[in-house]
Amino acid sequence: MSILVTGGAGYIGSHTVVELLNTNREVVIVDDFSNSKPEVLDAIKKITGKDFKFYNIDYSDKEKMDKVFKENKIDAVLNFAGYKAVGESVQKPIEYYTNNVAGTLNLLDVMRNNNVKKFVFSSSATVYGKPEVIPITEDCKTGGTTNPYGTSKLFIEQILKDLYKSDNSWEIVILRYFNPIGAHESGLIGEEPQGIPNNLMPYIVRVANGTLKELSVFGNDYNTHDGTGVRDYIHVVDLAKGHINALEKLEKEGQGLYIYNLGTGKGYSVLDIVKAFEESTGMKVPYKIAPRREGDIDICYSDPTKAKEELGWVAEKDLNQMCKDSWNYINKK
Ligand code: UD1
Repeated sequence: MSILVTGGAGYIGSHTVVELLNTNREVVIVDDFSNSKPEVLDAIKKITGKDFKFYNIDYSDKEKMDKVFKENKIDAVLNFAGYKAVGESVQKPIEYYTNNVAGTLNLLDVMRNNNVKKFVFSSSATVYGKPEVIPITEDCKTGGTTNPYGTSKLFIEQILKDLYKSDNSWEIVILRYFNPIGAHESGLIGEEPQGIPNNLMPYIVRVANGTLKELSVFGNDYNTHDGTGVRDYIHVVDLAKGHINALEKLEKEGQGLYIYNLGTGKGYSVLDIVKAFEESTGMKVPYKIAPRREGDIDICYSDPTKAKEELGWVAEKDLNQMCKDSWNYINKK
């Protein structure tokens, strides 16, 4: 039996494939390289010394996906094939809803037709909108997303809940990621945003290596310890491992719909991150204070207790390691 990983050449997908292969699972990757590169597949083989099956297709193409299910014995599906650039989603809502929402619907339909009902979905802390309490637990209210990317995650969560209600033989885990950063310790896979990065860590590493001049810190008048935004940064390898625990949960418990936060439970500000990066790498990160970015919130960090209790999962890598690995990746390229 194989695990089908859509978007397996992407940032979180590739790290998860490594963990799946490391735990001796058979993997089938579907990716169309719309936001990734073929070299990632070789890097995964190099890291793990293991092979997998690969299809260069669009995950929302029903006919081609049906063939993948017919040609392989698929046990479960991990869906990483979403678009994820917040700013771009505001410019291209039709593309975002089509790829993320309609694409997932097509995938679920093909799964149902092939009687495969184990599904792990990559959601985001963004579904909490402006969180009502900190730290955020899974039963906090969702909604109030500020962009089509976030809303697409919210819609898919609702679709999965409705699907489970209609047929409770489905086995679904929704994982709400906080802020993934870092890279595999080998430096062979990592985050590769196209163009000028929007997220904090990809921007910092490019300032440190001189590609970009300075970091703009978006606002220093938030209600936080130093005025800059606080987030829950999690090492991508810890995040990837969370998917293995999610699969094990489904293998053990069977049918159900489960929702977990994947975060560390610790909040760091933008300036905390700059300082930690400088200390752990010895590099300088010049910055200036800039106006707030639209849609940003003061504080967002998780209560990761439920994942610990029910999945036996905790994030192990600290901020120092996250900074080192982010830096190592960009230097090795
Ligand atoms: C954003 C998205 C979130 C998405 C996540 C990963 C929003 C509201 N949230 O999270 O939905 O899941 O990216 O793609 O857009 N910052 C700077 N300067 C920069 C970049 C960022 O000061 O050049 C600050 C931000 O204001 C924020 C923190 O760094 O306080 C983290 O920003 P970022 O990495 O973009 O992640 P989020 O905004 O938390």
